[in-house]
Amino acid sequence: MIIFAPDFYGYMELICTASKARLMFNPISRKGLAGFVPTMGALHEGHLELVRRAARENDTVIVSIFVNPNQFNDKSDLDRYPRNLEADLALLEPAGCHYVFAPSVEEIYPEPDTRIFDFGGLDHVMEGKFRPGHFNGVAQVVSRLFDIVQPDKAYFGLKDFQQLAIISHMVRMLHLDVEIVPCPIVREASGLAMSSRNELLSADERVNAAKIYETLTRAMKLAGQVAVPQLIEWISGEINKNPFLDVEYIDIVDDKTLKPVSGWNHSGGIVACAAVWCGKVRLIDNVIIK
Ligand code: PAJ
Repeated sequence: MIIFAPDFYGYMELICTASKARLMFNPISRKGLAGFVPTMGALHEGHLELVRRAARENDTVIVSIFVNPNQFNDKSDLDRYPRNLEADLALLEPAGCHYVFAPSVEEIYPEPDTRIFDFGGLDHVMEGKFRPGHFNGVAQVVSRLFDIVQPDKAYFGLKDFQQLAIISHMVRMLHLDVEIVPCPIVREASGLAMSSRNELLSADERVNAAKIYETLTRAMKLAGQVAVPQLIEWISGEINKNPFLDVEYIDIVDDKTLKPVSGWNHSGGIVACAAVWCGKVRLIDNVIIK
């Protein structure tokens, strides 16, 4: 159905208020399954793969674009975060999106959100150590978006491994009726994990940032041959050899508890996670070791 109206973009509709979103996405009035992809915009193939998958698995696909101030612990990171709604809309329609929810900060937070979540320690490691309050802000916005959109399924990338673990925990904790669908990391041809922040890299930085994934994949082969702390040291050393890169942390953790593992005979899944500065841009990546 093609409708020409100011709020419509081809067949895809742009919704900017929570009240209209509630009306449109009400599970009683809509037909079939609704798949939801929350994003902060500046969309790339990583986001679009989530949208395409949601389109294959649902009748209606809703994508939110909202740069959530509550999850930025660094004001300059928030100010510099790339925003480009027009370009995002042009990418979303061919990917199979039906509704874009792009609210203002006032729509999402008519009053300050003072809720504090307890993630059972999942937020005390890795990103949580270096970005205090970040995951609390993520949970604030995602719980609000779920409440407004009321999706059957919500799609999240494994690129943000800890975020996925924390959102799954929140859904269980709050008994939310939504299925969380984890999706593989989409990479550039160089291996660099796609990220909206890659737009902020210079051409040289972008080339050198590929060293992060290259080192993580080499580490996958070394796992089991050297002890865990030695492998962490080796990864840090290799990445730091590159003058463009500065490791913030390398952690090798259980894929459920996110607690550091001490040996390769660990009974659960193991994932190696990295946060690395490339100039002024902070990049994260991870590889599943087992
Ligand atoms: P954003 O960084 O825009 O990412 C939106 C979704 O896209 C997340 O689930 C993220 O993991 C996924 N994603 C990003 N890059 C990816 C890649 N290269 N491959 C696969 N998936 C990728 O994550 C957020 O926004 C926010 O924290 C949000 C959940 C929207 C809450 O504000």
